[in-house]
Amino acid sequence: MTILLASASVAAAAPSSRIGWTTDALNFVRNGDAEKGMAVAQTCDACHGASPENDPSSFPYLSGQLATYLFKQMQDYKNGSRASQIMKGIMANLSDQDIADVAAYYSRQPLPPTAAPLRFENAEILVEHGDGKRILPPCAACHGSSGQGERVDTPALAGQKASYLEQTLLAYQSDARANDLYQRMRLIARQLSREEIQQLARYYAGLGR
Ligand code: HEC
Ligand code: HEC
Repeated sequence: MTILLASASVAAAAPSSRIGWTTDALNFVRNGDAEKGMAVAQTCDACHGASPENDPSSFPYLSGQLATYLFKQMQDYKNGSRASQIMKGIMANLSDQDIADVAAYYSRQPLPPTAAPLRFENAEILVEHGDGKRILPPCAACHGSSGQGERVDTPALAGQKASYLEQTLLAYQSDARANDLYQRMRLIARQLSREEIQQLARYYAGLGR
């Protein structure tokens, strides 16, 4: 089974990601066993489960997220392409099969209730139209018209916690998060102001799916 790209082919863009979406890798994730994944998830829910409204913690929700996206992020933590001390330690104990299983499990869970919908005119323009002057493509072109995510590894944003969305956009902006293939998100985040990031985060958090 080939999940990992040969390291030579990523060297030019390092540090990025070692995940390559071969047919084998896609099938491996698609065949993840959600029931086995449920057992693995027992160790995750303390941080990733539903949390009370207005909880300021920035642990991301995993429920309802694309399995392929979750799988890629977990592999990236495991091999160090995405930096997080907490997640690296947790992933070190999981096999590729555990990771596919827990991805299958979370992708099938219903989303926690979304935050109250918020309207931000500027954010909505960026989402739907982007900004030609800054060569910013609309977020919806990749993340879907209602933030539901798209094949293969473009994540759902709708209903994610605002605090997490903001923190991770700032991490792309500063290169602290650098596991996006072809730097797609880093190039975009660098064009956004802090206020735009805050508004986009709160807009997507309040978007139902
Ligand atoms: C002690 C708290 C904690 C535990 C337990 C934990 N995580 Fe995490 N997880 C985090 C934090 C914090 C982040 C965000 C790190 C970052 O900024 O990249 C994260 C990020 C993630 C992400 C990336 C989400 C995204 O939208 O990009 C995935 C996937 C993930 N965790 C899966 C798991 C799984 C599966 C388990 C259980 C096997 C688990 N985590 C256990 C704290 C935790
Ligand atoms: C060219 C396609 C593309 C466009 C346009 C785009 N994104 Fe993304 N985005 C991606 C991909 C692919 C990823 C996953 C990258 C990775 O593996 O880290 C991502 C990841 C993200 C994440 C991380 C989510 C998580 O769970 O960790 C956020 C937040 C995000 N994008 C917000 C935005 C916003 C806001 C816009 C518009 C200003 C936008 N994106 C425009 C492709 C795109």
